[in-house]
Amino acid sequence: MSSGRRFEHLISIDDLSKEDILYILEKAKEFERVARGERTDKRLEGRILANLFFEPSTRTRMSFEAAMKRLGGDVINMTAHEASSVAKGETLADTIRVVGNYADVIVLRHPLIGAAKFAAENSIVPVVNAGDGAGQHPTQTLLDLYTMEKEARLEGLKIALMGDLKYSRTVHSLIKALALFNTKMYLISPPMLRLPEEFIEEVETHVGARMEEVGLEDVVDEIDVLYVTRIQKERFPDEEEYRKVAGSYIITAELLERAKDSMIVMHPLPRVNEIATTVDKTKHARYFEQAFYGVPIRMAILSELLG
Ligand code: NCD
Repeated sequence: MSSGRRFEHLISIDDLSKEDILYILEKAKEFERVARGERTDKRLEGRILANLFFEPSTRTRMSFEAAMKRLGGDVINMTAHEASSVAKGETLADTIRVVGNYADVIVLRHPLIGAAKFAAENSIVPVVNAGDGAGQHPTQTLLDLYTMEKEARLEGLKIALMGDLKYSRTVHSLIKALALFNTKMYLISPPMLRLPEEFIEEVETHVGARMEEVGLEDVVDEIDVLYVTRIQKERFPDEEEYRKVAGSYIITAELLERAKDSMIVMHPLPRVNEIATTVDKTKHARYFEQAFYGVPIRMAILSELLG
């Protein structure tokens, strides 16, 4: 690429090769001590990140901000779009064009699939997709892979993906990446929230990647990772449909009794009630470590885009 960067924007996990992914994970390792505040590195001094969030966020927005600030950079925010010109009818294209004059990188979360790609096409600075509707969430995927590499393993993993596989963008992103690592993926969901067929077909074109629909009790003793997701209430066409599946799965410490000692439970968070708090104290829980790993991973992404 002319800039010498591995990627110009980060819109979908498909933008990255397996080699790019491993490179980011390696870089993140180098940033871990900076992320914990144990070492100083100001390589992004003088650079500005703009957070444009059109949907709620705690971890993604704050960990981008922490990553940028730990590396000496600065952050400007447009969170309450009710208080911005978007509320006056400004188009996303215009907002992106303007914010590109104030910042060196734009992090965008938007309720519509394809919004980040559209933003990138209209932006004069790099755009990072922080979630586009039920579409993609590539930075979450990178931190998920990092967690697996550190706390379990990546190559040849056996993972159960549990919950809202229909609407969860973290799952939609993650399975595309896992397909590159010879992963056996078990799918566990209420019938209404099954993984869309096109993902299964795409993933299975990769040699070594396999998917199977199962129940948790069938695989709990053999998996390395249990990845749980929240039911994505905000994506449901109506409240009635949501009520039919709300609370239909809850992971408890008892359900994990037959799991391998080394099995880890992950969740992109926020959890609503999918994982009982009793699981937090077990040797399996890794969701809070996972949330921390968002900082070194986002440092690696930002230093690649801005370095
Ligand atoms: C996820 C998201 O926004 O897709 N959250 C996150 O970024 N950690 C998962 C979710 O909202 O359920």
